Amino acid sequence: MDRIDPLPGARVLLGVCGGIAAYKMASLTSALVQRGAIVDVIMTSEAEHFVGSLTFSSLTARPVYASLWDAPERIPHIRLVREAQVVLVAPATANIIAKLTHGIADDLLTTAILAARVPVLVAPAMNSAMYDNPATQANLATLRGRGYHFVDPERGFLAERESGVGRLASEERLIDAIVRTLKRRQSLAGKRVAITAGPTREAFDPIRFVSNASTGSTGIELAREASLRGADVTLLLGPTLLEPPSGVRVVRFTSAQELYEAALREAVGSDITIATAAVADWRPADRAESKLKKTDEDLTVQMVRNPDVLAALGERKGSTFLVGFAAETDEHEAHAREKLARKHLDAIVVNDVRDEHGFGTGVNTLTLLWGEDERNPLGTAAKSQLAVRLWDAIEDLMQCS
Ligand SMILES: Cc1cc2nc3c(=O)[nH]c(=O)nc-3n(C[C@H](O)[C@H](O)[C@H](O)COP(=O)(O)O)c2cc1C
Repeated sequence: MDRIDPLPGARVLLGVCGGIAAYKMASLTSALVQRGAIVDVIMTSEAEHFVGSLTFSSLTARPVYASLWDAPERIPHIRLVREAQVVLVAPATANIIAKLTHGIADDLLTTAILAARVPVLVAPAMNSAMYDNPATQANLATLRGRGYHFVDPERGFLAERESGVGRLASEERLIDAIVRTLKRRQSLAGKRVAITAGPTREAFDPIRFVSNASTGSTGIELAREASLRGADVTLLLGPTLLEPPSGVRVVRFTSAQELYEAALREAVGSDITIATAAVADWRPADRAESKLKKTDEDLTVQMVRNPDVLAALGERKGSTFLVGFAAETDEHEAHAREKLARKHLDAIVVNDVRDEHGFGTGVNTLTLLWGEDERNPLGTAAKSQLAVRLWDAIEDLMQCS
């Protein structure tokens, strides 16, 4: 082993399920112990068909837990997750993924995970048909939305002598996920973070409005990541069907005016504010009391200027580290740099919304700009990955400033 990330004293709770890849967890456990981690293992009763608990208890020099009822103390599921800094479920079967989705707690592992307040990493491993099954995919999406972290399976040789997606992530990737989760765990502890996210709706009658294609997912991922790093997060969230992350205080808004008022109340005085919301620049001058009746005439809606939320936060910046977002379709960096200076921002993220990236997709392309001409291209990636990269970059900038 050349490049070893040491994990001295790190408390890892490993949940082993009844999948064929369970045997690989013996090697993973040994690698974690060699790095100095203290590993507690919970096995499902199905996992015991695949690998013996003696293997894990020998490697960890600790008892292995399999049942709610035979542990030495009375409430093992709570103690085990309270002592852990991170939980890894590997191999995660289709069955445990379904159980976690529905909050089922019918054995020690599911009960412990339901009580977890620490990051839970899930590493699925199963036949590709099980993995691709819409039920499994829907469950994975639900868990992702609730803040579970995934170490996605790889494409390769499966136990059924088929090839496809469903092979457990390599030991290196599993360890890397644990190391990265532990490293970033407390980097924002004690910081008050405010994030605005989502579209606004500017109504011109009780059921019709002008809006935009933002779903709020970028802000939601940033809020999730900040919370994972220990920040006290307030998410100002516009109308979206996406679920906000757990562990985050959510303040809902509908119109730009509502966001303006909420932002002055919640974001001013915070340590860090990131404004990702796609705020309408104009709103209809009038809002009819009842639904406008259809006529043969064209309809002209007079639009008036909305307050500029980001500029208002810039004017009241104080010691807040203020980051704006600029969704641009052309002359990206020039427009963004102009905004950066005019609105007194510490940094601005340029978001290219020209083609399929940006609004309403899982993928984005971001560049962070600051100072006179400093730039950090964060690349094209899933929004959850970009949230990690953006927070790393913001933390670096804050240390330098
Ligand atoms: C030989 C064998 C291999 C299996 N491999 C897997 C697997 O890799 N992934 C999976 O999701 N289920 C697999 N299963 C099915 C699970 O063992 C079964 O769904 C079980 O209920 C899972 O229980 P648990 O999630 O509580 O551990 C396998 C079953 C057998 C008999």
